[in-house]
Amino acid sequence: MARKPLVAANWKMHGDRAFGEALARETVASCDDAGVDVVICPPICYLTLVAGPLSGSGCALGAQDLSPVVESGAHTGDINGAMLIDCGASHVIVGHSERRATRGEDNEAVAAKFLAAQQAGLTPILCVGETLAERDGERTEAVLEAQLDAVVAAAGIAAFSRAVIAYEPVWAIGTGRTASPDQAQAAHAALRATLARDDARIADSVRIVYGGSVKPDNAASLFAQPDVDGGLIGGASLKAADFAAIVHAAGGHS
Ligand code: PGA
Repeated sequence: MARKPLVAANWKMHGDRAFGEALARETVASCDDAGVDVVICPPICYLTLVAGPLSGSGCALGAQDLSPVVESGAHTGDINGAMLIDCGASHVIVGHSERRATRGEDNEAVAAKFLAAQQAGLTPILCVGETLAERDGERTEAVLEAQLDAVVAAAGIAAFSRAVIAYEPVWAIGTGRTASPDQAQAAHAALRATLARDDARIADSVRIVYGGSVKPDNAASLFAQPDVDGGLIGGASLKAADFAAIVHAAGGHS
């Protein structure tokens, strides 16, 4: 099945108002025509600011996290999916390894956020990935399967007809060390096979993007893999020209 490529920008906790607005404008100008679904995920306080340049463009807005609580109420500091939609977002990252590692988000907590995102009408970008110790211990596939199974158990397989999966090996994030195209392909194929046990059609149609030190010079070889449907880009998304080169590399494989 032909899956339209998707490339998402994860700005993490970088920039200020002026930086974010300029980067959003430049990104829209250079990525709109690539034949790729582009999602920009700025820091949450800049969502409405970035929504301006994005409106009317083909680029979508995403958040980097959300509360697992669906209903509004007494939850100091939390932001729910309905609020993200109200700010113009259509997507939200859940389960990024930085939150799993530093905010204690385990597979069940991530599954609750995935479910909350979908209940609000957002498309979750579910991050999964193994640590270096898990890879060295030959536990990569078991770890990925457990991360995915927790979400399937909570949300059901049908939920993956409106979700994106991001395979992000923890050892490749922000390290300059990228998974080889073969390593990425093997992990993506394993993820798809896990979903196919429950529903082959959904497994075939879900987009699985790769994240972890994607740069303009390695993007094309990663995106050339049959099960790699785009990327989740951290560091390189902070430079409009680099991000555009990556988006166009994905477009070349659509
Ligand atoms: P990176 O980050 O591209 O800087 O490695 C990717 C991510 O964390 O989503």
